[in-house]
Amino acid sequence: MAETGKTAKLSFGDKELELPIHSPTVGPDVIDIRKLYAQGDVFTYDPGFTSTAACDSTITFIDGDKGELLHRGYPIDQLAEKSHFLEVCYLLLYGELPSASELEDFESRVTNHTMLHEQMVYFYRGFRRDAHPMAIMTGVVGAMSAFYHDSTDVSDPWQREVASIRLIAKMPTIAAWAYKFSIGQPFVYPRNDLDYASNFLRMCFAVPAEEYEVNPILARAMDRIFTLHADHEQNASTSTVRLASSSGANPFACIAAGIACLWGPAHGGANQACLEMLREIGTPDRIPEFIARAKDKNDPFRLMGFGHRVYKNFDPRAKVMKQSADEVLDLLGIENNPTLQVAKELEKMALEDPYFAEKKLYPNVDFYSGIILDAMGFPTSMFTPIFALARTVGWISQWKEMIADPQMKIGRPRQLYVGETRRDYVDVEDR
Ligand code: SDX
Repeated sequence: MAETGKTAKLSFGDKELELPIHSPTVGPDVIDIRKLYAQGDVFTYDPGFTSTAACDSTITFIDGDKGELLHRGYPIDQLAEKSHFLEVCYLLLYGELPSASELEDFESRVTNHTMLHEQMVYFYRGFRRDAHPMAIMTGVVGAMSAFYHDSTDVSDPWQREVASIRLIAKMPTIAAWAYKFSIGQPFVYPRNDLDYASNFLRMCFAVPAEEYEVNPILARAMDRIFTLHADHEQNASTSTVRLASSSGANPFACIAAGIACLWGPAHGGANQACLEMLREIGTPDRIPEFIARAKDKNDPFRLMGFGHRVYKNFDPRAKVMKQSADEVLDLLGIENNPTLQVAKELEKMALEDPYFAEKKLYPNVDFYSGIILDAMGFPTSMFTPIFALARTVGWISQWKEMIADPQMKIGRPRQLYVGETRRDYVDVEDR
């Protein structure tokens, strides 16, 4: 954070304050209000944090107007095309693209930690078979705190490293087993001779009764979907992980909190809600009805997969996802997929509508992802677990950055209190 020497002058009542301005490497300047309450006896007011920088970070940058997403400076479209998920994990965790030997070592460490403690199988057995896989993931990841005590001390850099590798390595197994449990099939154990995405597909779709060959097209598409979901600045679930971690809570409990937040339909749950919406629309002739509902102030319905707090232009991830949807469905021979046709027609009609143009509402990462996952054979209930699996590296990277910051303090927002002033208790017989 560069000291600019610039200050913001704030005058109100009999107060004249000068607040420091800090400049980023890219993006808007920030006004440092850390001393505002002490010097001015006032708070700022920003529900939803639309204008508030909660931290400084070196990991991811989004330019919402340009529709640009950088991970440690590298554009997401280049990473999606030229890199692969575990290399992107290394980049997010350690700040630089790995050498060949660094990458080989990292992939080996992740691959050799994909199994769960066998006792965790009994955790799954405690759920009803119809439990949502996100409910299972929230519970099982939180329960990791009870199994991996040797990597829960956040003050120990080595334990932080071990917890990071364990979470990234075990998330595919946890998610795949949540799926297997929900369909009553036996768990499939990870294999060390498969890459990360292939291992996940095999754990989801293999059965003991026959050999399972991973389709390389699906494995590449799966890996790209993981990359597109890896990290995204201080979104709601990442902010949840940071706030939970600021109390010194162990990493497994904090990641479980992030999973819980991601589940919401306004956030990571939108991919499931979007595919369900596209199926409800069913045919292109019904699109105008749904666009009208999305524009109706009296109707709470929103176009799922549309709009974003930061992107006021196309979400660059949606562009890559749309290309991937075309490729995967074509390569799978799923011609004229009705859901994809509805999605493309909906996108076209919405972007031609003044309402969406005025409010700068474009398709986001969740608009096309569900179509690919559906074509791969996943039920909609597995869409958000896959988002959580991929976002784990982003949560962990942001967590590590915060914990290592010597200025870290417990997060404790204030409020604008508009409730009752002090009043005395009244006995029930006098009320
Ligand atoms: C993700 O933060 C991240 O980075 C998240 C994420 C990540 O990678 O972590 O990118 C992943 O969560 C993507 C977003 C997935 N959610 C959805 O697709 C759900 C549908 N979208 C919306 O609910 C909404 O767009 C949000 C929640 C994504 C953003 O909401 P904001 O920033 O709080 O904006 P807003 O609700 O104030 O909307 C601004 C205006 C409103 O109209 P007015 O009150 O100004 O008249 O736009 C309207 C909204 O009504 N609007 C929509 C709309 N989204 C916003 N109208 C119709 N359909 C929509 N989808």
